[in-house]
Amino acid sequence: MIEKKDVYILAIESSCDETAAAVVKNGREVLSNVISSQIALHTLYGGVVPEIASRKHIEKINQVIEQALQEAEVTFETIDAIAVTYGPGLVGALLVGVSAAKALAFGLKKPLIGVHHIEGHISANFIENKGLEPPFICLVVSGGHSHLVKVKDYGEYEILGRTRDDAAGEAFDKVARAIGLGYPGGPKIDKVSREGNPEAIHFPRAKVGESEYDFSFSGLKSAVLNYLNSCQMKGEEIHQADVAASFQKAVVDVLVDHSMSAVQKYGFHKFAIAGGVASNSHLREAMIKACEENGIEFYHPSPIYCTDNAAMIGVAAYYEYMKGVRHGYDLNAVPNLKLGERI
Ligand code: KG4
Ligand code: ZN
Repeated sequence: MIEKKDVYILAIESSCDETAAAVVKNGREVLSNVISSQIALHTLYGGVVPEIASRKHIEKINQVIEQALQEAEVTFETIDAIAVTYGPGLVGALLVGVSAAKALAFGLKKPLIGVHHIEGHISANFIENKGLEPPFICLVVSGGHSHLVKVKDYGEYEILGRTRDDAAGEAFDKVARAIGLGYPGGPKIDKVSREGNPEAIHFPRAKVGESEYDFSFSGLKSAVLNYLNSCQMKGEEIHQADVAASFQKAVVDVLVDHSMSAVQKYGFHKFAIAGGVASNSHLREAMIKACEENGIEFYHPSPIYCTDNAAMIGVAAYYEYMKGVRHGYDLNAVPNLKLGERI
C-alpha cells in the first residue's frame, strides 16, 4: 500500500497591517500561527498608513517566519510548499510577503502558491470545523470587503452580492472614529454596544436597487454623522453606547437578512461567516438565532482566525496545491485581484 505523505505548507500574509506566518499540515491542522500586529502603531494616525505598514512588514517578516517554523517544530526541509497572499490588499504591503515567499521558494527549490486573501478568509472555516465541506454560502465581512459568496467547491466561487461602497468593517471604523472611540473601530463598537440600547435610534437599512444581495453602508455612515451633527446643533447630549448599538444593529440586520434570503433561495443547508467583522459578538448571536430558525447549520471561525492571519492562507493553499496549482517566480502583488481570478 502506498502511504500518503503528509503535506506541510508554510504560509505568509502581509496584505494590510498584520505580518503573519503559519505552518499548516494537511490543510486543516494549524501547527503554528504567528501574527505581528501593527495596530498600536497605526492607532496613532487613526487608520492604516500604507507606507508605514510596508516598512514594518520588512522589519518583521523574517522573524515571524522563523518563529512560525520554531513553534511548529519543523525546519524548512519538512515544508512542501510556500504559500503567500498576492492580492487584494495594499500593494507595498503585499510585495513584502510576495518577495519573501518567492525568495524562499527559489532558494529552497519548493513550489510557490499565490493565494487570494478572501479565499483565505473563507478557508479559515475549515480549521476548526473538520467536517465542513463545500458547497455552502459564506458571508465575508472585513475592513476591505463585504461579499456574499457561493462556495461551490474548494477554490470555486460565485459572488452573489458585494458592497457598492464602504465595506462593513470600514463603516465600523469610520463610525467609531466619529463617536470618539478611535481605531480599530469594530472591536470597540462591539464592546461599548453591550451598554447601549440598539433600539434607541433608528438608522436606515439600505436596499440597493435591483440587486437583492448587494450591500451599501455609506448611507448608514452618513445617517450616523447627520444624527451626531443635529444633536450638536440642538445642544443635545450624545449617548455613545446607544449610537454604537443602534448603528451596529442596522449593520447586523442587513447582513442577516441578505444572508438568510440567499441561503433559502439557493437551497443551501450550510452557512458560514468570515473576515474581521465575523468576530463581532452581536453578529454571531444574530446569525446563530437566524440559522436555528431556518434549520441551517452555522459555521464560524474563532476570532483569531477571523482577522488577518496566515493559517487561513495555508489552508486555502493546501487545496490549490492538491489540484496542482503552482505559481512562477514572476508572481506579482495584485492590489485589486478578483475572487476566482487566476493570474
Ligand atoms: O479581516 P480583517 O482583519 O482585515 C481585512 O481584510 O480588512 O478585518 C479588519 C476589520 C476592521 O475594519 C475591524 O474594525 C473589523 O474587521 N473588526 C470588527 C471586529 N473585530 C474586527 N468589526 C466588528 N466587530 C468586531 N468585533
Ligand atoms: Zn482580511
